[in-house]
Amino acid sequence: MKKDFLCLTDWSTAELDAIFTLSAELKQQQKQGVAHPLLAGKTLGMIFEKSSTRTRISFEVGMYQLGGHALFLSSGTTQIGRGEPIKDTARVMSRYVDGIMIRTFSQQGVEELAQYADIPVINALTDSYHPCQIMADLFTVLEHKGSYADKSYCWVGDGNNMAHSWINAAAVFGFELRVATPVGYEVDSQIKRRAEEMGAKIIYTNDPLFAAAGADVLNTDVWASMGQEEEQAKRVQDFAGFQLNSEVVAAANDDCLVLHCLPAHRGEEISDEVIEGQHSVVFDEAENRLHVQKAIMATLMRKA
Ligand code: CP
Ligand code: NVA
Repeated sequence: MKKDFLCLTDWSTAELDAIFTLSAELKQQQKQGVAHPLLAGKTLGMIFEKSSTRTRISFEVGMYQLGGHALFLSSGTTQIGRGEPIKDTARVMSRYVDGIMIRTFSQQGVEELAQYADIPVINALTDSYHPCQIMADLFTVLEHKGSYADKSYCWVGDGNNMAHSWINAAAVFGFELRVATPVGYEVDSQIKRRAEEMGAKIIYTNDPLFAAAGADVLNTDVWASMGQEEEQAKRVQDFAGFQLNSEVVAAANDDCLVLHCLPAHRGEEISDEVIEGQHSVVFDEAENRLHVQKAIMATLMRKA
């Protein structure tokens, strides 16, 4: 039966660990110039209903490096943007390609796409989650620290798709997470409840310094996500004090890592000093999107 990559909680720790192991192998092979055509002759259809730099490039380059091919399908130039039903798009694409990557607004829409597609579907960001990013983030921690499950993590900022995927990761992997959001921008209550039911060790607060105290990994993201552009001015006011800056870094462990999925707005959610500073691994993190997503695609599409 085909498997999809829609949400981290759909996967076991053993399965996700296997993806990290394969990511490391593929990264080493790519660095050494050793061919690894695990998806020779296969095609990935990439549906984008939102903008992207890293996701588009890393998936497309990743398919090429795996011996396959990727198609960029924007909503503006396909029938998707003109209202063709998701369930029809799913069944049509299943006749042409071997896997679908989608970046869109609604998580439910992605789930419907996966339900009607005979081929694996990968969530490349919805309003709810960004699971591929979290996998790259944890792989980056693994590379820099030698392990990730025994580390403590801190989120400072919006209760958005990235925060939700961190919550899912804390539930699946069992690590400690503190989430600091401004009042009124807390995480989704259902996602929070499900993580609690899974036994997740998460503390929610409105105090960034409390959240950062003793953390091994600090993480933030833009104050206004894609689709929230009209709220930008209000959010700049409401998020005052929620910047990942030197004061927050000083509250964390001395050898902490700073992550940011990028794109970053320097001077808003993160200071220039911190993103350019010695704790920041944001470009390793961006690179790892490539290696980890290759492992995800190979895992899903090799046998499909
Ligand atoms: N982090 C991330 O997903 O970047 P893009 O929006 O550029 O794809
Ligand atoms: N929260 C951001 C992440 C971008 C990669 C957004 O959804 O726009």
